[in-house]
Amino acid sequence: MQRAIALYDTSVGKKAVMAVSGAVMFGFVVGHLLGNLQVYLGPAALNGYAEHLQALKPLLWLVRFTLLAAIVLHLLSAHQLWVRGWFARGRRRYRVERSAATTYAGRTMWMSGPLILLFLLYHLAHFTFPGLAMSVGYAHSIGDVYANVVNGFSVWWVAVLYLAAQACLGLHLYHGGASMLQTLGLDHPRFGGVAQGIAKPLAIMIWLGNSSIPVAVLAGLAR
Ligand code: HEM
Repeated sequence: MQRAIALYDTSVGKKAVMAVSGAVMFGFVVGHLLGNLQVYLGPAALNGYAEHLQALKPLLWLVRFTLLAAIVLHLLSAHQLWVRGWFARGRRRYRVERSAATTYAGRTMWMSGPLILLFLLYHLAHFTFPGLAMSVGYAHSIGDVYANVVNGFSVWWVAVLYLAAQACLGLHLYHGGASMLQTLGLDHPRFGGVAQGIAKPLAIMIWLGNSSIPVAVLAGLAR
């Protein structure tokens, strides 16, 4: 235990915690997308899938707790690394500063992360807590996930808000996925660059897949 705490105290340890918690969330986002894409198979498929998940209560709660722990650890280690970097930069304030990240996705990680968190709070209020959803003016039918998706995205500003959030998430995963693999050592040439070759296209597919749902509702393809 003491060794784990000592390791966490180092920047490498905090980066490892960020990478592992990020991998857990990445996995959730992929699974959630695959589930949500069943909207294209119609109400029976999506609602049947949601019912099936509800029936697996212990598993559902295990996933919820794991996800919550991953979010807390990711935020905590990100914040601590940022504070460390801030103090380190403070000591060299007269030197020319250059961000280590060269891509737009990398330079905006500090902003896309908090925006995703805000989106998540809104998203839970929208779909998961019916009382809250109704209080902000949505029609919400318990058990009819398909209708909730269609009703929600039929409101143009809700669809636009989701599209903006998916762009943030896509950018965050585009950079985060690649640095996660680097931290975990999976970008080693021994693996033939396969991991890196998958991370970025996967982030683009997640962005396109998630964004397609509000677009399909607005276009009348899902109703
Ligand atoms: C357009 C994209 C998305 C759609 C259509 C969507 C749809 C939904 C729906 C319908 C639910 C409620 C499921 C139910 O009541 O059984 C839900 C729950 C949830 N969504 Fe999403 N989602 C999207 C994107 C995301 C993203 C990007 C994240 C994470 C960053 C996310 C995280 C969650 C979480 C944590 C829950 C709660 C799951 C639970 O009940 O424990 N969703 N989503």
